[in-house]
Amino acid sequence: MTILDHLIEQNRKWAARVKQADPEFFARLAQQQNPEYLWIGCSDSRVPANQIVDMLPGQIFVHRNIANVVVHTDLNCLSVIQYAVEVLRVKHIIVCGHYGCGGVQTALDNRDHGLIDNWLCNIRDVCRYHQAEIDALRDEREKLNRLCELNVIEQVSNVCHTTIVQAVWRTGRPLSVHGWVYSIEDGILKDLEVSVSGLEQIPGIFRIG
Ligand code: CO
Repeated sequence: MTILDHLIEQNRKWAARVKQADPEFFARLAQQQNPEYLWIGCSDSRVPANQIVDMLPGQIFVHRNIANVVVHTDLNCLSVIQYAVEVLRVKHIIVCGHYGCGGVQTALDNRDHGLIDNWLCNIRDVCRYHQAEIDALRDEREKLNRLCELNVIEQVSNVCHTTIVQAVWRTGRPLSVHGWVYSIEDGILKDLEVSVSGLEQIPGIFRIG
């Protein structure tokens, strides 16, 4: 008996339920995964990729970190993107942020939070790029939620600027990058309508090759 036995117990029940509904489900998934989507989202426990879009295991490839940041030199995130587009050949990459994001909120204050402040510098950069727009908003909640949206938009750009995504576009294979934001308050996703699906949509300075 361990303190986490209830999780193992829940797992057994879940697996039995899934198998009852579809006896071949696990056998089929064990052969291969064939997801069409890569999800890059926040680690927040209230924003679980599969559940939000009502998808089963096998349908969505997922990378999550604090405040859904895509850093040009983050080998972890870049490796996920490379595997997703080159091996799994996903057709869509979705960067999904959420309103009220604790990571974005933390970036907005000037207190010392330890090591994580280095990670949150990426969010502070987003704030700096859009300082005038953020400053013009009166309400703190409005500032936070707009910054959550702007952060998604910046991370969509960062995905598009990777050599990995550009290499796919040069082959002519369809690949789109999308920016969404999720509301924890009502469970609804909003498309920020910043989708990018080709080299001609990114600034010349970022085009490689
Ligand atoms: Co968050």
